[in-house]
Amino acid sequence: MIQKIGILTSGGDSPGMNNAIRAVVRAGLRYGLEVYGIYDGYRGLVEGNIVKMDRKSVSDIVNRGGTILRTARLREFKEPEVRMKGIEQLKKYGIEALVVIGGDGSYMGAKKLTEMGINCIGLPGTIDNDIASTDYTIGFDTCLNTICDCVDKIRDTTESHSRCSIIEVMGNHCGDLALYSGLAEGAEMIITPDHPIPEEEIMKTLRTMREKDENKRAIVLVSEKLFPDLKAFAERVGRETGFDTRYDVLGHVQRGGAPSAFDRILAARMGAYAVDCLLDGKGGLCIGLVNNKIVSYDIYEALALPRDKHVSMLRLIDILNG
Ligand code: F6P
Repeated sequence: MIQKIGILTSGGDSPGMNNAIRAVVRAGLRYGLEVYGIYDGYRGLVEGNIVKMDRKSVSDIVNRGGTILRTARLREFKEPEVRMKGIEQLKKYGIEALVVIGGDGSYMGAKKLTEMGINCIGLPGTIDNDIASTDYTIGFDTCLNTICDCVDKIRDTTESHSRCSIIEVMGNHCGDLALYSGLAEGAEMIITPDHPIPEEEIMKTLRTMREKDENKRAIVLVSEKLFPDLKAFAERVGRETGFDTRYDVLGHVQRGGAPSAFDRILAARMGAYAVDCLLDGKGGLCIGLVNNKIVSYDIYEALALPRDKHVSMLRLIDILNG
């Protein structure tokens, strides 16, 4: 049976990562394992930034956003010789298996390390909710709530001025943050990579809205990267629809803050399950929440799964806005 495991966080940080670290450390110790924290993601692995953890290392972090192990993006980890350096570091410490918390880019590194002899389990830590093998990623719920807090505040001033507010949210290439917050906020329009709307149609819809009611205000939620020049887009809306228009890019405020209860619990369940998998001698898997059950998938299978485009949610939004 294995005796020493490591844990690292990789890619963009997300609220709840600390809860996952805590669960892995505490479950590992409970089963008699030695647990090592690897700082700065795969970069820290390659550089040997590795520290033994105990129960106290993860005290008082349940309510802290970010990741106490810090994180990084290391593109070079795709190269086998770079990964080999990481494996040499693990061998130095006698670490036999690893839990990797991050997005799909981090999963690929975990799978490759498994193929090189170090069993790895991936946990979905990202605000984007862009991993098809889980209903929710760790951090999505907190981020969604942060977006709703911000939009609630923007709504007050939008309404007072009968304006149109265009609000850009994160998500990388996934529209879930925009779609879910759009439903939660009763946004007039939601534009995502899965459900794009041609600019002409956006103008027409907003113009009609404004013509029907001159006191109308409009909240338009857009996924990042869809309008690289958001200022120019907002100016066009202002010119062509009759709405006095403003735009806001919520930015990194979305990634910070205390994790929600949902994310804390999700992370705890997934972290403990990852340790169980390693104790069973499994590797190359990623953990998901499907129908409220914690499950595991082969990482290659998980990465090939089609993402849910939430068509029924879009239909609901249409009914509620109609
Ligand atoms: O993947 C998380 C995420 O916040 C994305 O939503 C966003 O596109 C990206 O990371 C931003 O990355 P960075 O913090 O490196 O600018």
